[in-house]
Amino acid sequence: MTTPTMRAIRLHEYGGPEVLRYDDGVPLPEPGPGEVLIRVHAVGVNPPDWYLRGGMTTMPGETGSTVRLPVIPGTDVSGVVAAVAPDAHGFTVGDEVYGLLRFPSFDGHAYAEYVTAPAADLARKPPGIDHLHAAGAPMAGLTAWQFLIDPGHDRPSPFQETPHRPAPLGPGTTVLVNGAAGGVGHLAVQLAKWRGARVIAVASGAHEAFLRDLGADRFIDYTRARPEDLVHDLDLVLDTVGGPHSGRFLSTLKPGGSLFPVFPGEFDAEEVAKRGITVSTAQVRSSGAQLAELAELLDAGTIRVALDSTYPLAEARAAHERAARGHIQGKLVLTVPQD
Ligand SMILES: NC(=O)c1ccc[n+]([C@@H]2O[C@H](COP(=O)([O-])OP(=O)(O)OC[C@H]3O[C@@H](n4cnc5c(N)ncnc54)[C@H](OP(=O)(O)O)[C@@H]3O)[C@@H](O)[C@H]2O)c1
Repeated sequence: MTTPTMRAIRLHEYGGPEVLRYDDGVPLPEPGPGEVLIRVHAVGVNPPDWYLRGGMTTMPGETGSTVRLPVIPGTDVSGVVAAVAPDAHGFTVGDEVYGLLRFPSFDGHAYAEYVTAPAADLARKPPGIDHLHAAGAPMAGLTAWQFLIDPGHDRPSPFQETPHRPAPLGPGTTVLVNGAAGGVGHLAVQLAKWRGARVIAVASGAHEAFLRDLGADRFIDYTRARPEDLVHDLDLVLDTVGGPHSGRFLSTLKPGGSLFPVFPGEFDAEEVAKRGITVSTAQVRSSGAQLAELAELLDAGTIRVALDSTYPLAEARAAHERAARGHIQGKLVLTVPQD
């Protein structure tokens, strides 16, 4: 009997976008305990995909990854259940599902025609949106959700010992989202609005109309002005850019306020303590249960996924080249042909 095969993008070496190879004859994966097999329709592209492609040299924190080459990258998927392990509960063949697979272990393997997934990482795709938009939601949506609404677990992140605790959000609170037009940012803007907060969006000028349309109350073009010169007494800054420059937002917060760098940064502990600010970084984790909650908001149109651009799976390299040019508005998504 011949082994069933599929097409997939694989890394046989680490490097730039050119190492994303479209391979035929890749063995079809088989669902393990608690898993389902998904016929993939669309794949969301995320920064960890290029961290893995580059050999994990730019990834902060410990991931527990045991990746070996060749490897299929990718974590975000939307598709249709094709098979179910006997002990996997909640899904049957033919269900439309979406999920962030096995994160943070980097064992997602989503850039493929088929992928196996722990049933616990999946939720039903919101019926009112297509696979392309659903595939853009899992990692960015769960990151925004776990930072702003509910971490969903008590595990410390590799970035800090204390578990992340979201800050109160609601009418009377003001939130600044830096990097507001990107994958995490554009969903965070909408979740903060949904919770009733006033939202200040920081991005380059080309994104102003987009962000105002998503509900931003105020827009700051960081290429023309420094947000830290314009705003003060904020309750929360969600800094999706993060990194070494995140400390400049400390002065924009009121005492008791919170600064959440989505990409960890370095801070002057004395200044943080003196200002009475909470600085906290979480690491996103897969959660089918939280995706089910997000699905309701996506289905109702309360929040929406914007697509920057889409590419056929075979052209994953072009998607990574697009990402490297920066200024992403929403999400990059790969389409998987159904022939
Ligand atoms: N902690 C976690 O678990 C976790 C989870 C997911 C993502 N992340 C990290 O979060 C970061 C964002 O991820 P993403 O998927 O949202 O990325 P993305 O889709 O590439 O978005 C990044 C956005 O930042 C904007 N930007 C770039 N430089 C900026 C600056 N100096 N000031 C303000 N905005 C700037 C870009 O557009 P413009 O410059 O045109 O405004 C772009 O829209 C990545 O570093 C990722 O690794 C962490």
